Amino acid sequence: MTGSLDIVRSVADLRSRVKYWRDQGLSVAMVPTMGALHDGHLTLIRQGLELADRVVASVFVNPTQFGPNEDLSRYPRQEAKDAEALDGAGCHLLFAPKVEEMYPDGFATTITVKGVSQPLEGAFRPGHFDGVSTVVAKLLLQCLPDFALFGEKDWQQLAVIRRMTKDLDLPVQIVGVPTVREADGLALSSRNAYLSPEERAIAPILYQALQAVADGLKTGKSPEELCHRASADVLAGGFASVDYLDVRDAETMTKVAKLTRPARILVAARLGTTRLIDNLGVE
Ligand code: PAJ
Repeated sequence: MTGSLDIVRSVADLRSRVKYWRDQGLSVAMVPTMGALHDGHLTLIRQGLELADRVVASVFVNPTQFGPNEDLSRYPRQEAKDAEALDGAGCHLLFAPKVEEMYPDGFATTITVKGVSQPLEGAFRPGHFDGVSTVVAKLLLQCLPDFALFGEKDWQQLAVIRRMTKDLDLPVQIVGVPTVREADGLALSSRNAYLSPEERAIAPILYQALQAVADGLKTGKSPEELCHRASADVLAGGFASVDYLDVRDAETMTKVAKLTRPARILVAARLGTTRLIDNLGVE
């Protein structure tokens, strides 16, 4: 559509492109990704274009956020296709570094965000958020955008990044973008590609379970009881296991007994060998 996407692979080249824009007084938005782009990612790009003059996407399958038994080696990699999609969406620059560029020999620093990163995903994927925080801090410092956009699909990740940005005084405005879903409610995810046709047909149960909890909370039912029943429904529907299904404070991820502040219902469950996560807000 636009045909103007540039690709850079080094931090030095990224910085010189951004400086060129800065010298012209242009504002910059960044969208960090791990590639295998879908319409959820492209929605972040389009939102970035509304906020800033130039949009930089990064595609980097970050090894430090994958556990030893996770899907790092089989994570889908499709740079040419991703570049075409970014170009079509109007993205200006793709930063696609090699692992050695991000983690050169001797790399020894890790950022740990306590509290908000510890329960839920943090408990089931030890070290995951350290990897996310460290790579996102690096990307933000490498690019120094005015805005960085992240999906609400990964709600806890967004909360961790907001906390880190505040704590480290990173001069970037973090923007959360609502989850993009398929017509049947399934949240778009690069990991949906792992699902068999049978599993794909079952997958929307996850969102239905979140909606059932949200509806129940509105009528004053207990979060614990609602989550218990919704978990049972997810298992009965064909999921292999539920890691968690819980109502939490939307900002701190602490447990909530009463809904006095914005809360979030968060779920992680396994369908066959694929682990899916989703979440929904409750006012
Ligand atoms: P990745 O899973 O590729 O996601 C990149 C961004 O797209 C994240 O901010 C994610 O929340 C957002 N996203 C994914 N699916 C979405 C959907 N259905 N609707 C809206 N936004 C969606 O998240 C990561 O990569 C990595 O952890 C990263 C932040 C890049 C650090 O490595």
